[in-house]
Order: sequence, then C-alpha cells, then structure tokens
Amino acid sequence: MEKVLIIGANGNTGRILSEIISKSDHYEPVAMLRKESQKDLFEKKEIKTCLGDLEQDFKSCLDGVDKVIFAAGSGGHTGDDKTEAVDKKGAIKAIDYAKAHKIKKFVILSSMGTDTPEKVPGLETYLKAKKAADEHLKSSGLTYSILRPGALNNEKGTSKIKLTDQPSQSDSIPREDVAHALAYCLDDKNAKNKIFNFVSGSQDLLKTIENL
Ligand SMILES: NC(=O)c1ccc[n+]([C@@H]2O[C@H](COP(=O)([O-])OP(=O)(O)OC[C@H]3O[C@@H](n4cnc5c(N)ncnc54)[C@H](OP(=O)(O)O)[C@@H]3O)[C@@H](O)[C@H]2O)c1
Repeated sequence: MEKVLIIGANGNTGRILSEIISKSDHYEPVAMLRKESQKDLFEKKEIKTCLGDLEQDFKSCLDGVDKVIFAAGSGGHTGDDKTEAVDKKGAIKAIDYAKAHKIKKFVILSSMGTDTPEKVPGLETYLKAKKAADEHLKSSGLTYSILRPGALNNEKGTSKIKLTDQPSQSDSIPREDVAHALAYCLDDKNAKNKIFNFVSGSQDLLKTIENL
C-alpha cells in the first residue's frame, strides 16, 4: 500500500477524494487537516489524519508518505493575502517538502484559466497564484499531474469528461468526477508529467486520462 497525503482533505472535493482513496486496494490516505475538531469525521471512516496548516510548518505530515495530492484552496471568501499565502506559497511549500521527502508523485488540483490569468477578470490574482504553483511543480523535478477543471459543482459524478480549455458558459464538472480523476492520477503511468483542462463531457474519464 502506498501512503497518500491529501492536502485539503476536509474540503468539498477533498472529503470525496479521501473516501475514494480509503476504498482503494493500492493506497492508504492520510488526511491533512487544520483543526483537531475535524479529525472525528475521518477517524470514524478509519482514515488517518495529520494536523497541518499550509501557512505554518507542516513538513512532518509528509513523513512516510509516498504520494501527495494537493486539493486545498483559500476559497472565494478570503482576500488576496490568503490567496498568496495558501494557493501560492502553501502549494509551493508542499512541493518543496515533497521534493525533500523524495515523494514519488505529486498531483495538484489547479484550475482552468491558469495559463492566461489576465483573460479572466476577477480571478486574475487567484489564477496567477495557481500558475506560480503549477510552474514550481513543473520545474521541481518531481513526477506530477496537473489537473485543471472548469467550474466545480456538487452534482453526482458521471465519469464522463471532455478535454477542453475553451469551455462554454454552461460547462462545469462535479467534484466527484474531479476527485476520481485526482485519485486515478496517483498511478505512476497516468497523466505522467501532464497538464490537462477538462469539464463534463461524453468521454470515459479513466480512459481519457490513461490516453493523455
Ligand atoms: N470552485 C471552483 O469552481 C473551482 C474550479 C477549478 C478549480 N478549483 C480548485 O479546486 C480546489 C478545491 O475546491 P473545493 O471547492 O473542494 O474547495 P474547498 O471546499 O473550499 O476546500 C478547500 C480546503 O482547503 C483547506 N485549506 C484552506 N486553507 C488552508 C490552510 N492554510 N492549510 C491547510 N488547509 C487549508 C480548507 O480547510 P478547512 O476545511 O479547514 O477550511 C478546505 O478543506 C479549490 O481550492 C480551487 O483551487 C475550484
């Protein structure tokens, strides 16, 4: 079993992801949480936890870990200071710790639009932060997968996606499908050193990722 640290495990996507990985035959999740009070939900499901804050030193959470998934984010209700501290600096710190710990694969939940932040008014600061983290990962020497979904929704997953960086206004994707995609990218061969943009579509999610 490979141990997988999930950063942002208590988030909307992170919770689904933690559960998916806990049912896997190959991986054992470790949920990185910010608060003691968040542990119970995971421990009830026999998911190991580690207390860590992206704005502090959390390197000990990577001890004994084989792979990392970064699914954290400062969210839309905080200011640019948290975008910088969490989405950019926090992610970069996680990548640096991963390198120091010789982590076998780093999978990051990025966002569509990250290549051209200036084209998305209102999200420019956030997308620039995501871009800095993605660039840092690409040049880190770590094996990586960078997933860039369109807008996330809470509908039931369909396991069908479309690769595109030109979404229409109605395009979005269930967090459940994004979580499955993140988990699937843990495999060394899947989306190895690849970046991909996606929304819901009609192509099989797993086959599409396998053939990237
Ligand atoms: N929303 C969209 O439409 C969209 C589209 C494309 C990509 N994305 C990306 O997908 C990510 C996940 O989305 P989501 O909706 O699942 O996120 P979410 O529910 O807002 O969860 C974010 C998680 O990050 C954690 N976090 C925040 N600051 C932290 C810190 N300093 N240290 C450790 N953990 C911290 C939060 O911890 P707490 O639980 O303790 O608050 C939370 O568990 C987003 O952050 C974004 O980067 C989003």
